[in-house]
Amino acid sequence: MQQDLEQMQKEAEEAALSAADSRSLYEAKTKFLGRTGLVTALLKGMKDLAAEARPAFGKKVNELREKLEAKFAACESALKAKELRQKLAEERVDVTMPGRKGKKGTLHPVTRIKNQLVDIFAGMGFEIYEGPEIESDYYNFTALNTPADHPARDMQDTFYLSEEFLLRTQTSAGQIRYMEKKKPPFKMLSPGKVFRSDEDATHSPMFHQMEGLVVDKGITLCDLQGMLNEFARTMFSETSKTRLRPSYFPFTEPSVEVDVSCASCGGKGCSLCKGTGWIEVLGAGMVNRRVLENCGIDPDEYTGFAFGMGVERIAMLKYGINNIKLMTENDVRFLEQFKD
Ligand code: PHE
Repeated sequence: MQQDLEQMQKEAEEAALSAADSRSLYEAKTKFLGRTGLVTALLKGMKDLAAEARPAFGKKVNELREKLEAKFAACESALKAKELRQKLAEERVDVTMPGRKGKKGTLHPVTRIKNQLVDIFAGMGFEIYEGPEIESDYYNFTALNTPADHPARDMQDTFYLSEEFLLRTQTSAGQIRYMEKKKPPFKMLSPGKVFRSDEDATHSPMFHQMEGLVVDKGITLCDLQGMLNEFARTMFSETSKTRLRPSYFPFTEPSVEVDVSCASCGGKGCSLCKGTGWIEVLGAGMVNRRVLENCGIDPDEYTGFAFGMGVERIAMLKYGINNIKLMTENDVRFLEQFKD
Protein backbone atom coordinates (compact mmCIF):
# COMPACT_ATOMS: atom_id res chain seq x y z
CA MET A 1 0.00 0.00 0.00
CA GLN A 2 2.79 2.39 1.02
CA GLN A 3 4.47 1.49 -2.23
CA ASP A 4 1.34 2.29 -4.21
CA LEU A 5 1.23 5.74 -2.68
CA GLU A 6 4.87 6.41 -3.42
CA GLN A 7 4.44 5.21 -6.96
CA MET A 8 1.45 7.49 -7.43
CA GLN A 9 3.36 10.46 -5.97
CA LYS A 10 6.20 9.78 -8.41
CA GLU A 11 3.88 9.53 -11.39
CA ALA A 12 1.94 12.65 -10.44
CA GLU A 13 5.11 14.69 -9.89
CA GLU A 14 6.49 13.58 -13.21
CA ALA A 15 3.25 14.48 -14.93
CA ALA A 16 3.34 17.92 -13.28
CA LEU A 17 6.93 18.57 -14.29
CA SER A 18 6.56 17.36 -17.83
CA ALA A 19 3.42 19.42 -18.62
CA ALA A 20 4.41 21.76 -21.43
CA ASP A 21 1.60 24.30 -20.98
CA SER A 22 -1.04 25.26 -18.45
CA ARG A 23 -3.68 23.26 -20.26
CA SER A 24 -1.86 19.91 -20.01
CA LEU A 25 -0.89 20.75 -16.43
CA TYR A 26 -4.56 21.26 -15.64
CA GLU A 27 -5.39 17.90 -17.27
CA ALA A 28 -2.69 16.12 -15.22
CA LYS A 29 -3.93 17.76 -12.04
CA THR A 30 -7.49 16.62 -12.75
CA LYS A 31 -6.26 13.11 -13.46
CA PHE A 32 -4.82 12.83 -9.93
CA LEU A 33 -6.67 15.33 -7.77
CA GLY A 34 -9.98 15.83 -9.58
CA ARG A 35 -13.32 14.64 -8.21
CA THR A 36 -12.98 11.37 -10.09
CA GLY A 37 -9.16 11.42 -9.96
CA LEU A 38 -6.76 8.69 -8.81
CA VAL A 39 -6.05 10.13 -5.36
CA THR A 40 -9.72 10.59 -4.70
CA ALA A 41 -10.26 7.00 -5.81
CA LEU A 42 -7.79 5.87 -3.13
CA LEU A 43 -9.92 7.48 -0.45
CA LYS A 44 -13.04 5.90 -1.88
CA GLY A 45 -11.30 2.48 -1.84
CA MET A 46 -10.70 2.77 1.93
CA LYS A 47 -13.94 0.97 2.69
CA ASP A 48 -12.24 -2.27 1.60
CA LEU A 49 -9.55 -1.91 4.27
CA ALA A 50 -9.69 -3.32 7.74
CA ALA A 51 -11.22 -0.78 10.11
CA GLU A 52 -8.05 -0.32 12.17
CA ALA A 53 -5.92 0.34 9.07
CA ARG A 54 -8.19 3.08 7.79
CA PRO A 55 -7.10 6.12 9.91
CA ALA A 56 -3.40 5.67 9.13
CA PHE A 57 -4.11 5.14 5.45
CA GLY A 58 -6.44 8.12 5.30
CA LYS A 59 -3.77 10.31 6.88
CA LYS A 60 -1.22 9.17 4.30
CA VAL A 61 -3.54 9.84 1.39
CA ASN A 62 -4.31 13.31 2.73
CA GLU A 63 -0.60 14.02 3.10
CA LEU A 64 -0.09 12.87 -0.46
CA ARG A 65 -2.93 15.12 -1.65
CA GLU A 66 -1.40 18.14 0.10
CA LYS A 67 2.04 17.46 -1.34
CA LEU A 68 0.65 17.06 -4.84
CA GLU A 69 -1.47 20.18 -4.55
CA ALA A 70 1.62 22.17 -3.59
CA LYS A 71 3.59 20.63 -6.43
CA PHE A 72 0.91 21.41 -9.03
CA ALA A 73 0.56 24.96 -7.73
CA ALA A 74 4.32 25.53 -7.98
CA CYS A 75 4.40 24.11 -11.52
CA GLU A 76 1.42 26.23 -12.46
CA SER A 77 2.99 29.52 -11.41
CA ALA A 78 6.26 28.58 -13.13
CA LEU A 79 4.38 27.77 -16.35
CA LYS A 80 2.28 30.94 -16.15
CA ALA A 81 5.41 33.06 -15.78
CA LYS A 82 7.01 31.28 -18.74
CA GLU A 83 3.91 31.75 -20.88
CA LEU A 84 3.77 35.44 -20.00
CA ARG A 85 7.42 35.87 -20.98
CA GLN A 86 6.70 34.15 -24.29
CA LYS A 87 3.64 36.29 -24.98
CA LEU A 88 5.53 39.50 -24.22
CA ALA A 89 8.37 38.41 -26.49
CA GLU A 90 5.96 37.60 -29.34
CA GLU A 91 4.02 40.83 -28.99
CA ARG A 92 7.07 43.00 -28.72
CA VAL A 93 6.67 46.28 -30.63
CA ASP A 94 9.56 48.12 -32.19
CA VAL A 95 8.80 51.64 -31.05
CA THR A 96 11.52 53.04 -33.26
CA MET A 97 9.73 51.89 -36.42
CA PRO A 98 8.13 54.74 -38.45
CA GLY A 99 4.35 54.86 -37.98
CA ARG A 100 1.72 54.38 -40.67
CA LYS A 101 0.56 57.78 -41.88
CA GLY A 102 -3.14 58.53 -41.34
CA LYS A 103 -5.03 60.66 -43.87
CA LYS A 104 -5.59 64.13 -42.51
CA GLY A 105 -8.81 65.97 -43.28
CA THR A 106 -8.95 69.63 -44.24
CA LEU A 107 -11.24 72.42 -43.14
CA HIS A 108 -13.97 73.42 -45.56
CA PRO A 109 -13.21 76.75 -47.28
CA VAL A 110 -16.32 78.29 -45.70
CA THR A 111 -15.16 77.18 -42.24
CA ARG A 112 -11.67 78.55 -42.92
CA ILE A 113 -12.97 81.97 -43.94
CA LYS A 114 -15.46 82.01 -41.08
CA ASN A 115 -12.65 81.23 -38.61
CA GLN A 116 -10.46 83.95 -40.13
CA LEU A 117 -13.29 86.50 -39.92
CA VAL A 118 -14.00 85.58 -36.32
CA ASP A 119 -10.28 85.96 -35.52
CA ILE A 120 -10.05 89.37 -37.18
CA PHE A 121 -13.12 90.82 -35.46
CA ALA A 122 -12.66 89.08 -32.11
CA GLY A 123 -9.20 90.73 -32.15
CA MET A 124 -10.98 94.10 -32.35
CA GLY A 125 -13.12 93.22 -29.32
CA PHE A 126 -16.27 91.90 -31.04
CA GLU A 127 -18.45 89.47 -29.11
CA ILE A 128 -19.75 86.43 -31.05
CA TYR A 129 -23.52 85.93 -31.08
CA GLU A 130 -25.36 83.15 -32.92
CA GLY A 131 -29.08 83.59 -33.53
CA PRO A 132 -31.64 80.94 -34.56
CA GLU A 133 -31.97 79.76 -38.19
CA ILE A 134 -35.75 79.57 -37.91
CA GLU A 135 -36.91 83.12 -37.28
CA SER A 136 -40.15 84.91 -36.85
CA ASP A 137 -41.24 87.42 -39.45
CA TYR A 138 -40.81 90.10 -36.76
CA TYR A 139 -37.06 89.60 -36.21
CA ASN A 140 -36.19 88.93 -39.85
CA PHE A 141 -38.19 91.83 -41.29
CA THR A 142 -40.57 93.95 -39.23
CA ALA A 143 -38.19 94.97 -36.44
CA LEU A 144 -35.57 95.65 -39.13
CA ASN A 145 -37.83 98.38 -40.48
CA THR A 146 -39.31 96.14 -43.18
CA PRO A 147 -43.05 95.82 -42.41
CA ALA A 148 -45.30 93.42 -44.33
CA ASP A 149 -46.13 95.75 -47.23
CA HIS A 150 -42.57 97.10 -47.60
CA PRO A 151 -41.20 96.76 -51.16
CA ALA A 152 -37.76 95.82 -49.80
CA ARG A 153 -39.19 92.42 -48.84
CA ASP A 154 -38.87 91.55 -52.52
CA MET A 155 -35.09 91.99 -52.30
CA GLN A 156 -34.93 88.56 -50.68
CA ASP A 157 -36.92 85.55 -51.83
CA THR A 158 -38.04 84.05 -48.57
CA PHE A 159 -38.77 80.45 -47.56
CA TYR A 160 -41.83 80.78 -45.33
CA LEU A 161 -42.61 77.96 -42.87
CA SER A 162 -45.92 79.46 -41.79
CA GLU A 163 -47.44 82.91 -41.70
CA GLU A 164 -45.33 83.78 -38.70
CA PHE A 165 -42.14 81.73 -39.14
CA LEU A 166 -39.52 81.54 -41.89
CA LEU A 167 -35.93 80.45 -42.55
CA ARG A 168 -33.95 83.61 -41.84
CA THR A 169 -32.86 85.39 -45.02
CA GLN A 170 -30.17 87.43 -43.25
CA THR A 171 -28.13 87.33 -40.06
CA SER A 172 -29.38 90.90 -39.51
CA ALA A 173 -32.24 89.26 -37.56
CA GLY A 174 -29.64 88.62 -34.84
CA GLN A 175 -29.08 92.40 -34.49
CA ILE A 176 -32.55 92.75 -33.02
CA ARG A 177 -32.24 89.77 -30.66
CA TYR A 178 -28.88 91.03 -29.46
CA MET A 179 -29.94 94.65 -28.98
CA GLU A 180 -33.08 93.61 -27.07
CA LYS A 181 -30.82 92.07 -24.44
CA LYS A 182 -27.71 94.29 -24.38
CA LYS A 183 -27.19 97.88 -23.38
CA PRO A 184 -24.70 99.83 -25.52
CA PRO A 185 -21.78 100.21 -25.94
CA PHE A 186 -21.16 96.89 -27.72
CA LYS A 187 -19.51 95.25 -30.71
CA MET A 188 -21.21 92.10 -31.94
CA LEU A 189 -20.30 89.61 -34.67
CA SER A 190 -22.85 87.05 -35.77
CA PRO A 191 -21.92 84.20 -38.13
CA GLY A 192 -24.54 81.80 -39.46
CA LYS A 193 -26.49 80.09 -42.21
CA VAL A 194 -29.11 82.02 -44.15
CA PHE A 195 -31.65 80.85 -46.73
CA ARG A 196 -33.11 82.35 -49.91
CA SER A 197 -34.99 80.83 -52.81
CA ASP A 198 -32.25 81.66 -55.27
CA GLU A 199 -29.85 79.55 -57.33
CA ASP A 200 -27.15 80.17 -59.97
CA ALA A 201 -23.34 80.16 -60.21
CA THR A 202 -22.99 82.71 -57.42
CA HIS A 203 -26.20 82.10 -55.43
CA SER A 204 -27.23 79.08 -53.40
CA PRO A 205 -30.48 78.51 -51.44
CA MET A 206 -28.35 78.16 -48.29
CA PHE A 207 -25.26 80.22 -47.65
CA HIS A 208 -23.38 81.81 -44.78
CA GLN A 209 -23.28 85.39 -43.63
CA MET A 210 -21.28 87.30 -41.08
CA GLU A 211 -23.07 90.19 -39.45
CA GLY A 212 -21.32 92.97 -37.58
CA LEU A 213 -22.93 95.52 -35.28
CA VAL A 214 -21.31 98.34 -33.29
CA VAL A 215 -23.33 100.75 -31.14
CA ASP A 216 -21.89 103.49 -28.93
CA LYS A 217 -22.01 107.24 -28.44
CA GLY A 218 -20.64 109.15 -31.42
CA ILE A 219 -20.13 106.26 -33.87
CA THR A 220 -19.83 107.48 -37.48
CA LEU A 221 -19.42 106.07 -40.97
CA CYS A 222 -15.67 106.78 -40.63
CA ASP A 223 -15.47 104.21 -37.82
CA LEU A 224 -17.11 101.69 -40.16
CA GLN A 225 -14.64 102.35 -42.97
CA GLY A 226 -11.65 102.28 -40.62
CA MET A 227 -12.68 98.91 -39.30
CA LEU A 228 -13.41 97.54 -42.78
CA ASN A 229 -10.00 98.74 -44.07
CA GLU A 230 -8.40 96.75 -41.29
CA PHE A 231 -10.53 93.73 -42.23
CA ALA A 232 -9.59 94.04 -45.94
CA ARG A 233 -5.86 94.31 -45.16
CA THR A 234 -5.92 91.19 -42.99
CA MET A 235 -8.23 89.14 -45.20
CA PHE A 236 -6.95 90.05 -48.68
CA SER A 237 -3.64 91.93 -48.84
CA GLU A 238 -1.57 94.54 -46.98
CA THR A 239 -2.35 97.11 -49.67
CA SER A 240 -6.12 96.48 -49.86
CA LYS A 241 -8.40 99.50 -49.62
CA THR A 242 -12.18 99.89 -49.37
CA ARG A 243 -14.60 102.18 -51.14
CA LEU A 244 -18.16 102.99 -50.06
CA ARG A 245 -20.96 103.45 -52.61
CA PRO A 246 -24.47 104.64 -51.72
CA SER A 247 -27.02 101.86 -51.51
CA TYR A 248 -30.26 100.99 -49.80
CA PHE A 249 -31.21 98.70 -46.91
CA PRO A 250 -34.33 99.40 -44.82
CA PHE A 251 -32.45 98.89 -41.54
CA THR A 252 -29.52 101.24 -42.23
CA GLU A 253 -29.52 104.96 -43.11
CA PRO A 254 -27.40 105.92 -44.91
CA SER A 255 -26.67 102.54 -46.49
CA VAL A 256 -23.58 101.62 -48.45
CA GLU A 257 -22.22 98.90 -50.66
CA VAL A 258 -18.59 98.23 -49.78
CA ASP A 259 -16.01 97.41 -52.47
CA VAL A 260 -12.50 96.14 -51.79
CA SER A 261 -9.66 96.94 -54.19
CA CYS A 262 -9.02 93.86 -56.35
CA ALA A 263 -6.27 91.80 -54.71
CA SER A 264 -5.68 89.93 -57.94
CA CYS A 265 -4.56 92.94 -60.04
CA GLY A 266 -3.94 95.46 -57.26
CA GLY A 267 -6.65 97.75 -58.64
CA LYS A 268 -5.39 98.02 -62.24
CA GLY A 269 -8.31 96.03 -63.65
CA CYS A 270 -8.48 92.35 -64.57
CA SER A 271 -11.01 89.65 -65.43
CA LEU A 272 -11.83 88.96 -61.75
CA CYS A 273 -12.86 92.59 -61.10
CA LYS A 274 -14.20 92.95 -64.67
CA GLY A 275 -11.73 95.73 -65.39
CA THR A 276 -12.98 98.01 -62.61
CA GLY A 277 -10.23 97.40 -60.05
CA TRP A 278 -12.89 96.95 -57.33
CA ILE A 279 -14.87 94.01 -56.00
CA GLU A 280 -18.16 94.30 -54.16
CA VAL A 281 -17.83 92.52 -50.86
CA LEU A 282 -20.54 93.55 -48.42
CA GLY A 283 -23.50 95.68 -47.48
CA ALA A 284 -23.39 98.10 -44.56
CA GLY A 285 -24.60 101.36 -43.13
CA MET A 286 -25.48 103.38 -40.06
CA VAL A 287 -28.14 101.58 -37.99
CA ASN A 288 -31.51 103.15 -38.82
CA ARG A 289 -32.83 105.09 -35.82
CA ARG A 290 -36.14 103.21 -36.11
CA VAL A 291 -34.28 99.95 -35.56
CA LEU A 292 -32.59 101.32 -32.42
CA GLU A 293 -35.99 102.52 -31.17
CA ASN A 294 -37.51 99.07 -31.83
CA CYS A 295 -34.91 97.65 -29.44
CA GLY A 296 -35.35 100.29 -26.73
CA ILE A 297 -32.11 102.17 -27.51
CA ASP A 298 -32.32 105.99 -27.63
CA PRO A 299 -31.13 107.07 -31.13
CA ASP A 300 -30.44 110.60 -29.91
CA GLU A 301 -27.92 109.25 -27.45
CA TYR A 302 -26.45 106.34 -29.43
CA THR A 303 -25.51 105.68 -33.01
CA GLY A 304 -24.11 102.58 -34.62
CA PHE A 305 -23.07 100.85 -37.79
CA ALA A 306 -23.87 97.40 -39.13
CA PHE A 307 -22.43 95.32 -41.91
CA GLY A 308 -23.25 91.95 -43.45
CA MET A 309 -21.07 89.87 -45.74
CA GLY A 310 -21.43 86.57 -47.57
CA VAL A 311 -18.85 84.06 -46.37
CA GLU A 312 -19.00 81.98 -49.59
CA ARG A 313 -18.48 85.14 -51.62
CA ILE A 314 -15.31 86.00 -49.71
CA ALA A 315 -14.07 82.40 -50.04
CA MET A 316 -14.76 82.48 -53.79
CA LEU A 317 -12.84 85.75 -54.19
CA LYS A 318 -9.94 84.68 -52.03
CA TYR A 319 -9.47 81.22 -53.51
CA GLY A 320 -10.59 81.95 -57.07
CA ILE A 321 -13.62 79.60 -56.96
CA ASN A 322 -15.98 80.26 -59.85
CA ASN A 323 -19.10 78.28 -58.86
CA ILE A 324 -20.77 78.33 -55.46
CA LYS A 325 -22.10 74.79 -56.04
CA LEU A 326 -18.58 73.41 -55.47
CA MET A 327 -19.00 74.41 -51.83
CA THR A 328 -21.79 71.91 -51.21
CA GLU A 329 -20.89 69.07 -53.60
CA ASN A 330 -18.36 67.53 -51.18
CA ASP A 331 -15.95 66.51 -53.94
CA VAL A 332 -12.77 65.55 -52.07
CA ARG A 333 -10.58 66.68 -54.99
CA PHE A 334 -11.99 70.17 -54.49
CA LEU A 335 -11.91 70.11 -50.69
CA GLU A 336 -8.34 68.75 -50.50
CA GLN A 337 -6.98 71.88 -52.13
CA PHE A 338 -7.54 73.94 -49.00
CA LYS A 339 -4.58 72.97 -46.87
CA ASP A 340 -2.40 74.99 -44.54
N1 PHE B 1 -28.59 91.95 -44.43
C1 PHE B 1 -28.07 92.54 -45.64
C2 PHE B 1 -28.16 91.48 -46.76
O1 PHE B 1 -28.31 90.33 -46.47
C3 PHE B 1 -26.64 93.00 -45.46
C4 PHE B 1 -26.50 94.09 -44.49
C5 PHE B 1 -26.24 93.87 -43.18
C6 PHE B 1 -26.62 95.42 -44.91
C7 PHE B 1 -26.08 94.89 -42.27
C8 PHE B 1 -26.49 96.44 -44.02
C9 PHE B 1 -26.22 96.17 -42.72
O2 PHE B 1 -28.08 91.82 -47.92
